[in-house]
Amino acid sequence: MTERPFPSTPAPTPDPEEVKACCASAYGSDAVALLLGDSYHPGGLTLTRRLADLLALTADSRVLDVACGTGATARLLALEHDARVDGVDLGAAALQTARATTEEAGLSGRVRFLHGDAERLPVQGAVYDALVCECALCTFPDKAAAAAEFARVLKPGGRVGITDVTVARGGLPDALAGIAGWVACVADALPADAYAELLRDAGLRVLRVEAHDGALVRMIDRIDARIRLLAMASPARMAEAGVDAEAVAPYLAAARRAADEGNIGYALLVAEKPGRG
Ligand SMILES: C[S@@+](CC[C@H](N)C(=O)[O-])C[C@H]1O[C@@H](n2cnc3c(N)ncnc32)[C@H](O)[C@@H]1O
Repeated sequence: MTERPFPSTPAPTPDPEEVKACCASAYGSDAVALLLGDSYHPGGLTLTRRLADLLALTADSRVLDVACGTGATARLLALEHDARVDGVDLGAAALQTARATTEEAGLSGRVRFLHGDAERLPVQGAVYDALVCECALCTFPDKAAAAAEFARVLKPGGRVGITDVTVARGGLPDALAGIAGWVACVADALPADAYAELLRDAGLRVLRVEAHDGALVRMIDRIDARIRLLAMASPARMAEAGVDAEAVAPYLAAARRAADEGNIGYALLVAEKPGRG
């Protein structure tokens, strides 16, 4: 099991089930949809395309999207790589949106969604050619269990592609360490090399680690700009979605400072399950 990166920092220890339920509910909310749009991770679908290009997909590859949210990545992989994709998420509301949007796009024959926990994937056997997990491993309380599940469901030679928030070994400001920090994907994020170690501990061979810190800064800036715009142009829409600009502002400012100081960033990792003959 990978050690916590900051043993000297008092660890935020919310109940693991509370963390998962809170994340699932937050990412199924209208507020998040309003602020983030389609894709709920830094780098958006541009970074997803970069990740997909590194997964050695072929037509009819079977791909699992772990913590798929509303399914934008699953649909992209089906449309642009002809993959057959299963998405798994804990959030009922996100899955409902994912299914409806996929049906509307005419992709239900290639993309399906399952309710389940990344730490106990609802999948039997090593059936996937590739697995993606974007901006979500950082929120799983038992990351080693999730990494072991990734390895379990991949075929030998299959690849896992992860993009995720990273934290420098210097630690986080208090404002980002509580339950809101978990939901915002920073409170239990790891340095990139610790994610790599998690994957190795699960028996995977790490092929690539890339820094994409600028993607995180751009996402923070975009959310900030969107809140300002909405506050001026559609305060009623903001209120209806439950976005409280004043409550969000200190988190955004703390995240921006942490990004500027190099304490948080974003990384892409690709690893392979050994053993293809
Ligand atoms: C930041 S969003 C990312 C969603 C999607 N991967 C994307 O990039 O658009 C994190 C997602 O992780 C899901 N999630 C959190 N904990 C989970 C768990 N233990 N198992 C499955 N999904 C989980 C949440 O419901 C949410 O949809």
